[in-house]
This record gives sequence, structure tokens and C-alpha cells, in this order.
Amino acid sequence: MNKALFSFIAESPTAFHAAAAAAKTLRSAGYLPLQEAESWSLAPGQGYYVTRNLSSLIAFRVPEGDFSGFMMAAAHGDSPAFRIKENALLSDEHYVRFSTEGYGGMLCASWMDRPLSVAGRVLVRTENGLETKLIDLKEPTALIPNVAIHFNRNANSGTAYNAAVDMLPLYGLAPKKDFRAQLAESAGVCADDLVTTDLIVYNPQPGIEWNGLISAPRLDDLQCAFAALRGFLDADKTENLPVYCLFDNEEVGSATKQGAASTFLYDVLARVCRTLGLDADGYRRKVAGSFLLSCDNAHGVHPNHPEYMDRNHAVYPNGGVVIKYNANQKYTSDAVSAALMQLVCEGAGVPFQRYANRADMPGGSTLGNIANTQVSLNTVDIGLAQFAMHSAYETAGADDTAYMVRALTAFYGKCLCTSGDGSYSLE
Ligand code: CO
Repeated sequence: MNKALFSFIAESPTAFHAAAAAAKTLRSAGYLPLQEAESWSLAPGQGYYVTRNLSSLIAFRVPEGDFSGFMMAAAHGDSPAFRIKENALLSDEHYVRFSTEGYGGMLCASWMDRPLSVAGRVLVRTENGLETKLIDLKEPTALIPNVAIHFNRNANSGTAYNAAVDMLPLYGLAPKKDFRAQLAESAGVCADDLVTTDLIVYNPQPGIEWNGLISAPRLDDLQCAFAALRGFLDADKTENLPVYCLFDNEEVGSATKQGAASTFLYDVLARVCRTLGLDADGYRRKVAGSFLLSCDNAHGVHPNHPEYMDRNHAVYPNGGVVIKYNANQKYTSDAVSAALMQLVCEGAGVPFQRYANRADMPGGSTLGNIANTQVSLNTVDIGLAQFAMHSAYETAGADDTAYMVRALTAFYGKCLCTSGDGSYSLE
């Protein structure tokens, strides 16, 4: 299972590539692409997927008849990285560096002294307009060298990293091969036709399994994105309408046209309902009987720093699915949604553990509560325990990917029924 996860991670240096990798998997399972700009007709029993900005993706399967509601899981395909600015190069007589800014909140130290590569999308001029090409240079293309300890005596006792000074990746020695030419070659076009780019510097190091753990780039959140997709595809067909969401821009707050705060999920669900002959009232009846799993990795107890955890809500690698709680609703889990998730895990024979931040630590945020502002329904926040979140190379439990797949497979095979009086059935 982790081998397949590592392939997915290697194929997914950016959210564009993650959406493309998910689309490829869906196509090979018989799912058909839909375009937001076209009208839809949906066949019973058929699966479909739709993308927005090519960086967010929603897949769903049409039930054979009437359905109880949407059973949905959402994860994010973006990760912290260094975005290459449009005027990409900073050159002097000795060095050529990339002009970058941070995307999301990375652990800067982990990005130093390791081979980095470049990936993203480029817009290419065509006869009638523009075409998008995804590119991934794959090979080592940049490196952010540390300052020697002889010049930075505080290197081991607290260093501040300035994104505009310390974190600029070195592209090579001057004079260097033309970067645009390298991009054009990778895109298979001529450099004059390159119009604009969305590129990041990323870590191409492969994932590894070792001593019961896995280490890889972008485990947050590709481990959940991968597991949820597997569960979505493996689940038994039943009288629900299963939905898989892969959102871009979680690492920068989700408030973009394709993020979890956008209308993307609402638009897709409302169109599905309308195409299946339901009116606005029918859409709301279906949402009221729906359930969303907001899947994003969690902080496992750090071996050297257990003090950062609430000791009563500490979670560990290979402890199974983490149910995440937060009084201030950064996590959506409440007694209802956590209880439903507990039933799913128990039914699937998957261990689960409960996480809450220390009361004096603010913790992070994720996408479930944000998605709820557009489509409001019972939602639970879950994830898998990992170390070093937002490091260039993260570590998690080797057993947990399969636990998440099993839990998600069970989840997607269930229908939720609620009568509005506080009782629920999940079968
Ligand atoms: Co995340």
C-alpha cells in the first residue's frame, strides 16, 4: 500500500499534478471527465469527475436509483513550497538564483542542503489563444545552501530564516542555461510561446519505509488524499452518492476560486441533484442526510518533545485513524460526527485515537469547517498521526495508510439516515 502511496506522491509535486494523478486513477477505473463549462447528463451507475483550475478535483458516482445522501471525503493536494516568481531568476556575475516567495508555512530548516526540483503549470501561446501544460523537471534543479556554522554561530541555538534572503534557491553558477529554455523543452514547446507560469520548487526525494514508519515529502496531505481515493474506488456500491474531493489552497486558507471555501463543492452537488431531477428543496433534503470526512494529517507525539501534546489526547503513528477535536471549531468533530466515525472504524476493525491540542496551544486549521460555510452538513475531522508537519520530508506510521483506506472503504459503503430528532442509522 505504501509503495502505491509513494508513487502517488512522486507523481504529485504540485496540486495540479495531484489532481492529474487522481484523474488518471479515476479514468482507469472507468470514471468520465465532466467540464464545468458544459451541460451534464449523468447515467445511473456511472462515475464522473470534474476539475476546477486543474488543481482541485471532485469525483462522484451516480447511484442506480434514489439515494440517501452524499457520503463525502475531502483532502488537500497542495503542500508548503517555494513559489517561483514570474521574473524567475536573480543573477549576478557568479550565481543564478530563483526569485521565490513562500507558499504556506514550511519548516525552513528542512529545505536546506537537499536537491530540489521544479514543477507546475505553464501557459503556452497557441494559434487561437492559450494552452496549459503541466511540467515536472524531476531532476535536481536547485538547492538552498546553509550558511556555514563558522559564519552563523547561532545555527544550532535558534536561527531566524528570512524568506527574501536565506531561502532563495540556487539554480547554478553564472552563466547558467536559460531557465525558460529548460521549461520550454520540458513542455515540448518553443521558448517564445511560453506566456506565464505557476511554478514551485519542491522536494523530489522518494518515499521510504523503515522500522514501521514511512518518510516522504508531502505526507500532509497526500497520505489522506491517496487513502480517501482508494477507499472511494474500493467501496461496495450502495444507495448513497459517494463523493471524493481533492482541494487546492488549504495551506493558504482555502479562500480561492478552487479552494474548500469556494463554491466548487456546492456547485457540483447542486448540479448533480438538478441533473438527476431534484429541485432546490431536493438538494437540501439530500445534504441534510449527508456526511463529510475532512481528512488531513494530525500531529503524532514527538519522540523528543512529548510535552507539546495534551497527554490525554496524544496520538501515535500506527495507532490508526485520528479523530480531531477543537473547542473553537477549527476541527468540525462533535459528539454526533465523532460517534458516527467511531461506528465506521469499529465496523471496519480499524483502530482509532482521539486528538485535541493542549489548551494553551492554538494548533492548526484544515478544510472541513471552511467547506461547511458553503455546504453545511455533519462533518468530522480525521487524519493520520505524523511528525514534522510541513517539513520538506515528513514521517508517519507505515500501517496507517492501510488503516485509513479500510476506514474510508467502509465509510463509502454506508448510508446515513437521520430523522432530525437526534437519532441516526448508518448501514
Ligand atoms: Co494538511
